[in-house]
Amino acid sequence: MENTIERIYADAMDALASATDVDGVNELSIQYLGRKGRVTHFLRNISSLPAEERPLAGKRANEIKRSLENEFKKAEERLTSSTQTVTDRIDVSLPGRVPEKGSLHPITQITNRICNIFSQMGFDVVEGPEVETDYYNFEALNIPKNHPARDMQDTFYVSDNVVLRTHTSPTQPRVMEKRKPPVRIIAPGKVYRCDSDLTHTPMFHQVEGLLVDRHVSFSDLKGTLAAFVHQMFDEETTLRFRPSFFPFTEPSAEVDIRCVICRGKGCRVCSHTGWLEVLGSGMVHPAVFENVGYDTSQYTGFAFGMGVERIAMLKYGIDDIRRYFDNDYRFLSQF
Ligand code: PHE
Repeated sequence: MENTIERIYADAMDALASATDVDGVNELSIQYLGRKGRVTHFLRNISSLPAEERPLAGKRANEIKRSLENEFKKAEERLTSSTQTVTDRIDVSLPGRVPEKGSLHPITQITNRICNIFSQMGFDVVEGPEVETDYYNFEALNIPKNHPARDMQDTFYVSDNVVLRTHTSPTQPRVMEKRKPPVRIIAPGKVYRCDSDLTHTPMFHQVEGLLVDRHVSFSDLKGTLAAFVHQMFDEETTLRFRPSFFPFTEPSAEVDIRCVICRGKGCRVCSHTGWLEVLGSGMVHPAVFENVGYDTSQYTGFAFGMGVERIAMLKYGIDDIRRYFDNDYRFLSQF
């Protein structure tokens, strides 16, 4: 009788060794330990054994029962975790993970584009400091002490005589002090104004342009800016000059382009005027030339300054300037 239970045990262990999944193990558990299983059957029939064999057979059968319970449980655990590895953790039908690519900020891209267009026309790219003296930001540019542009509302003062530059125009006197005419420069950079809403941020970007030589006229300014606008937008984009005022240019003009969204029909972006303001410009004021020691009887020049965010908004059709500075990956990755 002892042989019978040992045989059952050996059969069970053989079968378990070749079980490949959880269902197979459960099946074996029923076959051996279930109500009608072979081990159960053996235990039930112990009473039919000769009396002297019963204690030993009972003891051995119970040992085998516990051992099988344990082996089935271990096999089930092992097969459950390996099943998970294949079916749950690796789904070979999923698309692979694409590594995310970095790119230049849209404002940087537009700044580079603007500089490239002017470089091709022969302008040098220069830069000036963002923390600027009162002298270069205002005084040298013919903005007297009591001028409204100096109002605390617009200017961030670092100290009495030091400001965060409110425009890129201070690069004009800085360059002219160092170079003799002819001068042809473009100066991109950050500027700061105490202002914040849908179309204004306290920090934004400008590109300054300056050209000084003999016989420079307003038509040179117009031709240069028209060439720029045609390359930046397209050949069909027309522009118009509106009389304006800046202390450092005379005469001064603001330049509008035909709305790139509605092509002049009138829309929300152009406030139904058909035109969009893109830059300030004018002929360099003689007072500015005098401040840097240029001979006003020999030289004339033009200057202009444009807002990069403004150009980028028009180019990409974005109506909230703050998007550029939110650092939202979903927004930035579109460019
Ligand atoms: N600096 C002026 C501004 O910030 C723009 C400008 C530059 C106007 C050069 C005329 C000439 O508004």
